[in-house]
Amino acid sequence: MALEARAEASDRRREPVRVGLLGCGTVGTGVVKLLRHNAEMLARKLGTRLELVAVADRSLKPQPSLGLSRALIMRDPLELAARADVDIVVELLGGRDPARSAILIALENGKDVVTANKALLAEDGEQIFRAAAERGLAVGFEASVGGGVPIIRILREALAADRQRAVYGIVNGTCNYILTRMSEQGSEFSAVLKQAQCSGLAEADPTLDIDGHDAAHKLCLLVTLAFGVMLKPDQVYTEGISKIEPLDVACATELGFALKLLAIAKDDDGAIEARVHPTMTPLSHLLSGVRDAFNAIYIQSEALGSSMYFGLGAGQMPTASAVAADILESARRRLCGGRWAANPLGYPMQSIRPARVKSMDDVVCEYYLRFMAADRPGVLGAIASVLGRCGISLASVIQRERGGAAAVPVIMRTHEARERDLKLALGEIQKLSVVKARPVFIRIEEHL
Ligand code: HSE
Repeated sequence: MALEARAEASDRRREPVRVGLLGCGTVGTGVVKLLRHNAEMLARKLGTRLELVAVADRSLKPQPSLGLSRALIMRDPLELAARADVDIVVELLGGRDPARSAILIALENGKDVVTANKALLAEDGEQIFRAAAERGLAVGFEASVGGGVPIIRILREALAADRQRAVYGIVNGTCNYILTRMSEQGSEFSAVLKQAQCSGLAEADPTLDIDGHDAAHKLCLLVTLAFGVMLKPDQVYTEGISKIEPLDVACATELGFALKLLAIAKDDDGAIEARVHPTMTPLSHLLSGVRDAFNAIYIQSEALGSSMYFGLGAGQMPTASAVAADILESARRRLCGGRWAANPLGYPMQSIRPARVKSMDDVVCEYYLRFMAADRPGVLGAIASVLGRCGISLASVIQRERGGAAAVPVIMRTHEARERDLKLALGEIQKLSVVKARPVFIRIEEHL
């Protein structure tokens, strides 16, 4: 490099990289704290300072202890997104709008974007990633899946040359906490949810978490990174945990399983399985040991084999750590004057195909079944014969003792069966007069 060019590059390195923050709630405040607390270390890593130049938040008051002076605070995120003195826009508003508009404005104005907004990226990712790719800009979204667990980089970079076979994620801390407590205390779902809300672990409106939608949003991003195909949340089969009963959690343990809300993606010769539902996993498996609000993503890759990534998937500082790492990465790239050669999803946009999603009817797995049945001779036989007629083979049967009840739980575990056949069988079994309630079925992932 010529001497003048080198001098110019070194001048550029000395200029601070300017960050604008949209939304200063729990995670935003964590990012401010981290940038401040680690300012010196970040400057050493970067060769220049990261400077927070503006924070847009509807209700933020100055906080001198965090360096949030009145001069830094503004109200309109769209105005901040277009400001000429900002290099990197960090979107932590959540929700669809104005987050989406702010991100698009930032990209149109040549800024890199960092976001933790999985719902937005799952729904509108194509438009956002395309806008970034057209301009060679970065969209950092490490915090959107697994919070502080760096799973986006793992899939995009560390495992980039390997072929992924399957991804199994415990990616919703709220659900994992509730299922852990139900298992360890034998408590009802509603009681544990209330406890979790009181301790601030669950949202006041927990619907997105407990109905599985938050996990489905995260799975959409994992599917693109793992398999290079794009799908929308409504293409992910999604079942939450609110109907799980303590009896089934106890029976799972008795059969040697833990009950987890898993986000599962598999590539079956180009047909993508993408599903979120309560799943029984063998107690001896690493995923079964992931307790409370922790997250873990277990990946099966062709060359590497199995690997698992574990840590806190939510919370102020774990999430802020992932956001700040994205800011740093973006700043490093800017200082080298570099464009992003590839899409932040790891594939150029033109290589990403729409997903061919396998229908749930064609999914094959083992099942846990529970029937509430009259305790009379021939009942087991009647149920087993319907299952047999539908081509479903039984691996084991447990009948719980009577205790004077009108109906007793009959628990069965099947061998691998096609979901279409199972549903057909359950529909017929439900019509038997000896079966007193809607049958319960939970999918088992034995060979993960
Ligand atoms: N609400 C999520 C969870 C964290 O419970 O894991 C944010 O994605």
